[in-house]
Amino acid sequence: MPKPSLFAQDDVYSRSIPRQAGSRVAHSGAPYDFGVAYPDPESLPLAELAESLRVGLEEEGRGLAKYPHPSGYPPLREYVAEKLARDRSLSVSPEDIILGDGSSQPNHMIIEALMNPGEVVLTEEFTYPGTLGILRRFGADIRGVACDREGFLPDALEDAIRSASGEGKRVKLIYTIPTFQNPLGWVMSLARRRHLLETAQRHGIAILEDDCYVDLRFEGEPVPAIASLDTDGVVVYVGSFSKIIGPGVRLGYLAGPSPLLDRISAIKSGGGVSQLGALAIHRYAVSHLEEHVRSANRILRRKRDAMLAGLADGFGELSDVGASWSRPRGGLFIWLTLAPGVDMQAVADRALREGMIIFPGIRLSPEGNSGHNCARLCFGYDPPRVIREGMGLLAGICRREAVASV
Ligand SMILES: Cc1ncc(COP(=O)(O)O)c(C=O)c1O
Repeated sequence: MPKPSLFAQDDVYSRSIPRQAGSRVAHSGAPYDFGVAYPDPESLPLAELAESLRVGLEEEGRGLAKYPHPSGYPPLREYVAEKLARDRSLSVSPEDIILGDGSSQPNHMIIEALMNPGEVVLTEEFTYPGTLGILRRFGADIRGVACDREGFLPDALEDAIRSASGEGKRVKLIYTIPTFQNPLGWVMSLARRRHLLETAQRHGIAILEDDCYVDLRFEGEPVPAIASLDTDGVVVYVGSFSKIIGPGVRLGYLAGPSPLLDRISAIKSGGGVSQLGALAIHRYAVSHLEEHVRSANRILRRKRDAMLAGLADGFGELSDVGASWSRPRGGLFIWLTLAPGVDMQAVADRALREGMIIFPGIRLSPEGNSGHNCARLCFGYDPPRVIREGMGLLAGICRREAVASV
C-alpha cells in the first residue's frame, strides 16, 4: 500500500488556515443553474476580446517579458479611474487604484489588512458567502444587521454598534453591497447611504463598499456611491469586470485612501494582475464595454422577467407554500421566501437530484442561523425559456417539501 501523503496529516498545516476543505468543484453543467451569479454566456463578446488581445499584444506584447506594475497595468487603472468618475462621481486617480483577481482578491486583501481575530464586522442580514468565508478565515466576529428594502435599518445599525461596544469589542468594519444587494436585490437609498457613512465616521469604523453589480441596472436611476460622499476617508470601494464581462476574466479593483493602499501593497503577493488579461480588457473596455453593458442588461432584464413570470405561474397568486419573492431593478438575484416551516436546504437537495442548483438562504446568513426558509435564485445564466420552466419545477419541489415537512 502506498504511504499516505504528508499532506494527509493535520499537523502539517498552519494553525491559521481553516480546518475544513475548500471547494474544488467546477461549474456544474446542471440543466437548471440558478446557483451562482454568472452573467449571460451567449452574449460574451469573444470576437472583440480576441481582437483587443491581438492589438494589445501587437502594441505592448514585449512587456510580458517583465513583471507587471505591482498595482496592475497603468492604462487599465486609468480607465477604471475615468469610469468611476463618470459613473459613480468618485474622484480617484490611477494611483488610488489597485487591480486584483476579480473583486474577491481586493476584498480578501482589505479584510486581511484590517481584521484581527475577535473584532466585529457588520454586514447586511444576508450577504455574499465568498466574503463571509474570508471574514471567517480572519476570525472576524460577523454580525448581520436587519435591513428593509432601503438598506440597513438605522436603529438596528446603531444598536449593533452599541451592543458590540457594550461587550468591549471593537467594530472595525461594515461590509456592504449597497447596489442590487447579493442576495436581497435592493438598492440602498441615498438617505441610508448618508446615515451609514455618518455613523461609520462618528464611530471610526471602516466601510467596504462592494459595488460589483452597479452596472447591471435595468430600471431606476443610479444612486451615488457611498465612497463619493465620503469626506473623512473611511470608505474603500471595490468593483469588478466579472459581472459585466465574465468571472473568467478574473479582473477587478479596489480604490481607497492611500494609507490603506500602502498597507495592502505590502501584503499583496505575486506582483500585479495578469498583464495578458489587462492588455486585452483595457482595449476592450475603452472601445466596447459601455455598449456591451447596455445590451447585456437588455438580456438580463428579459431573464429577470422570465424568472418573475415563472415564479408567479409556478407558485400562483395566492401561494399555498407562503411564497413571496423580491423584484429587483437590476443585478442577478431573486430572493425567494417560503412559509417559516419549509426547509430550503432540503428543497435545494431535492432540486439538485432533479438537475437544478439553487442556493439555500442559510449559506448567506452571516451567523449561519437564519434564512432556513429562503433561497437565492440567480437568473443570469440560463436562457429565459429554461428559467421559466425551472421555476415551475422548483414550485413543485417546494410543494412536495412543504407537504413532507408537516
Ligand atoms: C458581492 C460580491 N462580491 C464579490 C464577488 C466576487 O466576484 P469576482 O471575484 O468574480 O469579482 C461576488 C461574486 O459573486 C459578489 O457577489
